[in-house]
Amino acid sequence: MDVSLVTQQTDAWRTDALLYFAFEDESHVLLQDNAWAEGDGGWWPRKDELEDFRGKTGEVNVFYSPGASGVSRIVLTGLGKQDKADVQTFREAVARSVKRCRELKLANVGIPLSGLKSLPFESSQLIEEAVISMYLGLYRYNELKSEPEEDSSFPEVVSFLAEDEVDDTGQQAVTVGIAVGQGVCLARDLTNMPSNLATPVYLAETAQRLGKEHQFNVEVFEPGQLETMGMGAFAAVFKGSCEPARLIVLEYAPAGHEQDKPIVLVGKGVTFDSGGISLKPSAKMDEMKTDMAGVGALFGVFKALAGMDLEQRVVAIMPCTENMPDCKATKPGDVITAMSGKTVEIINTDAEGRLILADALHYAEKYEPELIIDIATLTGACVVALGKHVAAVMGNDETLIQDVHRTGCAVGDRIWPMPLWDFLFDELKSDVADMKNVGSRMGGALHAAMFLKQFVPEGIPWAHIDIAGPSRADKANALTLVGGSGFGVRTLVEFLRRKAQR
Ligand code: BES
Ligand code: ZN
Ligand code: ZN
Repeated sequence: MDVSLVTQQTDAWRTDALLYFAFEDESHVLLQDNAWAEGDGGWWPRKDELEDFRGKTGEVNVFYSPGASGVSRIVLTGLGKQDKADVQTFREAVARSVKRCRELKLANVGIPLSGLKSLPFESSQLIEEAVISMYLGLYRYNELKSEPEEDSSFPEVVSFLAEDEVDDTGQQAVTVGIAVGQGVCLARDLTNMPSNLATPVYLAETAQRLGKEHQFNVEVFEPGQLETMGMGAFAAVFKGSCEPARLIVLEYAPAGHEQDKPIVLVGKGVTFDSGGISLKPSAKMDEMKTDMAGVGALFGVFKALAGMDLEQRVVAIMPCTENMPDCKATKPGDVITAMSGKTVEIINTDAEGRLILADALHYAEKYEPELIIDIATLTGACVVALGKHVAAVMGNDETLIQDVHRTGCAVGDRIWPMPLWDFLFDELKSDVADMKNVGSRMGGALHAAMFLKQFVPEGIPWAHIDIAGPSRADKANALTLVGGSGFGVRTLVEFLRRKAQR
């Protein structure tokens, strides 16, 4: 898909379809000051025709040109009631609209900026949101199908049509929208890819490739090195698997910022979570291929960084492994020593994410971070607490927690704060070691976060995002198919952009 912003007088518009959007019972507004409808688009549906279109959420109508015209169709999409509409409404409408264009195999579509003027947002925000929503709405994971779907290349060209010259922000919005859209799609691809293909080694190769293409620094550590480095918590998980583990470090250090304190992102990269010796039930175990969605999101963030000019040093630390019950696997009751020197009694080998993150968080100290954010499909308890559509954020710094929460909500990733009081550590006290790796079942998302807190470098602001619920969609909606959602990419990219602007 080739997306661009073009300045063109209405009489020069040549497209298979123009995309318009209307609030419920407000479609007549589109006729006001519509230079194209008055001129070249004389066939534009008149008031009575438009009134048959109600503009309800989910409604998409196609109007056909009666004869020779540079514009063959209008695809009109409902935004629902005006007083209920927000930017999420617009995202979903754009996704529905381009999906209809794909069904119709339309190669070339245009979005007149003048058609967006009744929406209460700046046009650069609308352009950026529209571009991202097109990528999300059109996303499909077809890599492993032998027959490609015949409509998969449509629409080929999408043009935002400006009647007058627009300033730089419009063009930037297209660029950022493409970068973020491609980032989320990469996160989805990696998350949807089965664990026999998306192995830790494959993820490391993907990092090397991304690094070469976009001048990121890449470091990859293998199991022997990780053990020498003292990563006993990470090793406690990877020892049980025949698929070799990797610690991947990706760094984006734009010129002039190489010595800045970086923002360090840490992701959980469990490419398959069988539970280990504390084996999971077999029902839905296949879904545990998505237990690397945290790392998937960080790959997505770096893909997005590659397409934009951000003045901010960023480091991603990504421990990647399977969690398997081999003869070398850690057993319940075993005690291991983490890289920080703390000892952990492993009560349940299915609480593996916190173990690999413990060493990754400790390792972050080496980069003298300005702050750390980790993202992980950490606990089923988080899904019980907040449901399938909401992630939790916890941490040691109220300002950072609020920033992550607000940034997430602004970009369509619903992230809600949960508490992390010191008393929660009582749950993790062990008779034989410094701590246990699990607390009681109730409040499990908090205990997991409390465990991570023990490994966060002293004095560094830290936030933990538990994406166990929203990282994978069980039902399709306008913007997401069943499978990996790419949750968190948009939040982290926006967080970095806001940080770079400050
Ligand atoms: N990967 C799971 C958490 C998870 C559950 C992610 C459902 C996505 C959907 C994690 O490693 C896990 O198994 N956690 C256990 C922890 C328990 C043993 C304390 C859980 O949540 O049941
Ligand atoms: Zn687990
Ligand atoms: Zn897991």
